[in-house]
Amino acid sequence: MYPIKRNRRLRTNEAIRSLVRETIISPNDFLVPLFVVEGKGIKEEIASMPNYYRYSLDLLQAEVKELWKLGLKSVLLFVKVPDILKDNKGTEAVNPNGLMQRAIKTVKNACPQMLVMTDVALDPYSIYGHDGIIEDGKVINDESVDVLTEMSVSHIEAGADFVAPSDMMDGRILSIREAFEDEGYADAGIMSYSAKYASAFYGPFRDALDSAPVDAQDIPKDKKSYQMDYANRFEAIRETEMDIDEGADIVMVKPGLCYLDIVREIKNEVDVPVAVYQVSGEYAMLKAAAEKGWLDHDAVMMEQITAIKRAGADIIASYFAKDVVKILND
Ligand code: PBG
Repeated sequence: MYPIKRNRRLRTNEAIRSLVRETIISPNDFLVPLFVVEGKGIKEEIASMPNYYRYSLDLLQAEVKELWKLGLKSVLLFVKVPDILKDNKGTEAVNPNGLMQRAIKTVKNACPQMLVMTDVALDPYSIYGHDGIIEDGKVINDESVDVLTEMSVSHIEAGADFVAPSDMMDGRILSIREAFEDEGYADAGIMSYSAKYASAFYGPFRDALDSAPVDAQDIPKDKKSYQMDYANRFEAIRETEMDIDEGADIVMVKPGLCYLDIVREIKNEVDVPVAVYQVSGEYAMLKAAAEKGWLDHDAVMMEQITAIKRAGADIIASYFAKDVVKILND
């Protein structure tokens, strides 16, 4: 008797397909990155990220209210820092009245229940566009960790729920965790960018914040001395396990699509939530192909997001969050 098994029975129509579907996307899966700028009445489109914007604080309020209405309950804040406030040491990063600190308060005022996570790294504040302090042509680790720790405390003081260190310095999670305990912020969360690769997919993000490494003598031209080599797999596990030991509540793999093998491996290995960042270059690629009429934007977007979750993502940071949720709500 042939065939005894007909797998197509479970694919006959949408009703049976939805009954046996293994991966379901919901608004609860998303963390929404938001770009903030100084000024008033500003909502400017990022050239390499069509339909994605930088907001001044006044318009940020309306945006987070809209996100909340759509069922999106977590945001990840990034700030574009004016050039005059940049230096080598991230002085502005710890200003209690800096743009990030005000952005945190703005979001919490507009939408008190919104979960606020903040980017912790020096690049938007650095005249050199690096995530740490430069000395003798190198990004120095321990002094950078000190500033990143101070910066983290300042974000929590301003009202953030979680910090998200994206800098890849060694030992920063432990340092931040200890500072939170010492300063009486035992409830403050840490989502660590644990396995963050030195990727060419971050280009549009660096346009958005004007934060690319500068091309100057004695300044490293890339971030390969701290972000991971994309050829490596075991190193991702090592980094992630260390961050958990040091006190991370959530770990992250970044970028997304090219790294789903790493996501699955980490998901199988650890018992904390795993976040995946579908980064700016991934967003830009689909936008560009869709603009040309070469790909069906919404179909490819849903396929990619589902693939990220299927690979093991408990949380997805994505510039598509709003678009996806609008489709889910339809
Ligand atoms: C900064 C930071 C980057 C991203 C998140 N935080 C860029 C970088 O490391 O150069 C990339 C996000 C994206 O491309 O969407 N430390």
